[in-house]
Order: sequence, then C-alpha cells, then structure tokens
Amino acid sequence: MTVAEVFRGRTAVITGASSGIGAGLARHAAGLGMKLVLADIAADRLAEFAGELSATGAEVTAVVTDVADPASVEALADTAYTRHGAVDLLVNNAGIMAMGYSWEIPAERWDAMLRINIGGYVNGIRAFVPRMLERGEKAWVVNVSSIGGMLPSPLMAPYSVTKFGTLALTESLHYEMQMKGAPIQVSVVTPGSVKSEIFKAARPGETAPPEIAAFNDQLQAMADEHGLTPEEHAERVFEMIAEGKYWAIPQPEQLFPALQPRTDMILGQENPRLQLG
Ligand SMILES: NC(=O)c1ccc[n+]([C@@H]2O[C@H](COP(=O)([O-])OP(=O)(O)OC[C@H]3O[C@@H](n4cnc5c(N)ncnc54)[C@H](O)[C@@H]3O)[C@@H](O)[C@H]2O)c1
Repeated sequence: MTVAEVFRGRTAVITGASSGIGAGLARHAAGLGMKLVLADIAADRLAEFAGELSATGAEVTAVVTDVADPASVEALADTAYTRHGAVDLLVNNAGIMAMGYSWEIPAERWDAMLRINIGGYVNGIRAFVPRMLERGEKAWVVNVSSIGGMLPSPLMAPYSVTKFGTLALTESLHYEMQMKGAPIQVSVVTPGSVKSEIFKAARPGETAPPEIAAFNDQLQAMADEHGLTPEEHAERVFEMIAEGKYWAIPQPEQLFPALQPRTDMILGQENPRLQLG
C-alpha cells in the first residue's frame, strides 16, 4: 500500500499545528487526503493556516488548544469526535524550548516546559487513547521527541528532560498497547534539525549570559542552513509510520554518529565529556 492508500480519508489530530514541524505534517496529511483537526495555542496563526489549507480543498477544523491544560485537550478530543466520529491519527507535537543553565532557568519556565512538552503529551494520550481503544479499529499515536531525547545537552536541560521523557512515555504506551492486544500503532519521532520557529521563540534576553544566546543562535543557524524543511521532514515521517515503524528517525545521519559513542560510553561506564558544536 502507498502512504496515501494507508491514510486517505482518515482523520488526523495534530497539536502545535500552526508552525514548523506540525504545520509540515498538517500540509503533508492534507496532501494525502486526510481530514484534519489542527490544534495550537497561537489562535491567529492557527486560523490563518487552517484557512490556507482549506483553500486548497482540505477538510480542516481549527481548535485553539492549550495542550498543558487537560480540560482543553479533552475539549479538543470532543470536537474531533463530534465532527468526524473517530480519530485515526493523533500527533502530539506541540513543544517549546528553554535555554540556560539549569539552575538559572526560572521556575515558571521549567514548569511550562514540563507542562507543555511532557504534560501536553500525557493529556493527549489520556484524552484520545481510551476513545481509540473503545472503537477497537486501527489507529496511530505519534509522539514527537527529538534527537535531544537520546543525546542530552548542556544549556537545555528542560528540553533534554522532556524529550527523554517522551521516549519513555511513548515506549511505555507501545508496550501497553501490546498488552491490550490493541490495533493502535505507536511511534516516536526523533527529528534532527528542522526549519521552524522554536529557537526564535526561545532566544534568551539581553541580560542572559552571552554563551546562552550564542548557543541558541548556533542551533538556529544549523537549522537555517542544514535543517530539513517541515515538508521534507513530514514526508519521511509519514513514510515510516505507514511502514509500521515504532522508531521514526527522519535524520539518522544526525543521530547515529553520536548515539554509538554515547552507548559505548554508558556500557563502558566512562564519565561523560563535554562536546559542543
Ligand atoms: N525544529 C527542530 O529542529 C526540532 C528538532 C527536534 C524536535 N523538535 C520538536 O518538534 C516539535 C515542534 O517544534 P517546532 O520546531 O516545529 O517549533 P515551532 O515553535 O515552530 O512550533 C511549535 C508549535 O507549538 C505551539 N505551542 C506551543 N505551546 C503550546 C501549547 N501550550 N498548546 C498548544 N500549542 C502550543 C506553538 O504555538 C507552535 O505553533 C516540538 O515538540 C519540538 O521539540 C523540533
């Protein structure tokens, strides 16, 4: 079966859908002939993007959602099920970044990182998986982590924590679906560099130590110069999901050369050594 044959006519819910990776996934899904329920906290940008996709003939519902709020995600699920009767594909994607030394990042920012990047995915699973299980038909749950979910980094501890957490959460869910014998395919996506707004939104202010803004700018430049476009990224992800892959690793060339030495380091019980750039 082609990717379009797998997904055409099915309903996808995508969080963080008005920008970057989420918008790329939404565009690609629309191109495959999927019905879309797009969720984002950025109300104006979401309305504009939903309008743009609708104009191409796609069936699109936009739901302003704060993924950090369980009630807001329940309301998103209610809307999706009322509108379409079923949800076939849930993509938990909405996420933010925080840069800085772990002890200097304000408590409110740590809290937001945990509530959005991990809490948002938990809220998605709690709102949608019971309805998918009840329906008992083929469905997909896709959680967007990062290569940072396997490679911890200095100056972005909240991000590393939440992206490692996403890996654990997703694999637990995958095993639970096997225990239940449920026809729900679970996948984790570990993007490398993809062009998006995430570093722009996280750029530290003037008062932050200069090495933090420099690190943020370095990652931004890497994405601008070498990152995939969200559309290229989405095409790879949909192919891997359609093939039934749990590990959706769109840029193995950015992950594996660092993951192998990291694995060797752990198995050899060597102390981690700082490597930047
Ligand atoms: N861009 C990359 O290089 C990269 C690499 C690895 C992983 N990721 C992951 O991809 C996902 C998407 O990031 P992106 O790079 O496209 O960033 P982005 O900033 O372009 O898009 C993130 C979207 O999430 C939305 N959002 C933020 N908080 C929200 C909330 N509380 N409720 C609902 N929506 C909310 C934003 O409004 C935005 O539209 C994130 O989980 C990120 O960690 C990105």
